[in-house]
Amino acid sequence: MTVTSKPWLATLGLSLGLLASASVQAVDVDKAIQYRQDALRVMAWQMGPLGDMAQGNIDYDAERFALRAGNLAALAGLPWEGFVEGSLRGDGHGMDTDALAAIGDDRDDFEARHQSLVEETATLAALAEGDDFAAMRRQVASVANTCKGCHDNYRAE
Ligand code: HEC
Repeated sequence: MTVTSKPWLATLGLSLGLLASASVQAVDVDKAIQYRQDALRVMAWQMGPLGDMAQGNIDYDAERFALRAGNLAALAGLPWEGFVEGSLRGDGHGMDTDALAAIGDDRDDFEARHQSLVEETATLAALAEGDDFAAMRRQVASVANTCKGCHDNYRAE
């Protein structure tokens, strides 16, 4: 290999690398968006009966409450890795998403909010092992407020 051919090879290698990462990313962004939406729906499904019991729409059932609260706590950390670079509204990926571009403007705040969901749901799961239903109801409200606070700021209507 001559000295002069090296820069040319390096350039070729670089552009092939860029092409590869661009196409890999296109697939990954779509999958990441689907993944996070699925994970959020799974979370919401677990949350539903907790809200219903807290609001008295259905009777409090200790076992069911603890099961749902434990599941919710286990799920609370999962959706967020789906918010990958280039996956927000207006990022040109062609997927339907309600994730506002504002997430990219304040990643720290977004992360603080999902971290707080992890903590609030862990507190709920711990309370659910006890017998203080009034405290559980208050904690369901805290969890719901954490969902809502993030939606108000970062999810399209
Ligand atoms: C840190 C911010 C944040 C928190 C906390 C949060 N969400 Fe969301 N949620 C979002 C964003 C952003 C979207 C839009 C995702 C998309 O469309 O790609 C969303 C979408 C959803 C969706 C719609 C998913 C779909 O596409 O069908 C559901 C359901 C949902 N969230 C439920 C919840 C529940 C229940 C909680 C609390 C237990 C919660 N979320 C907490 C940010 C959050």
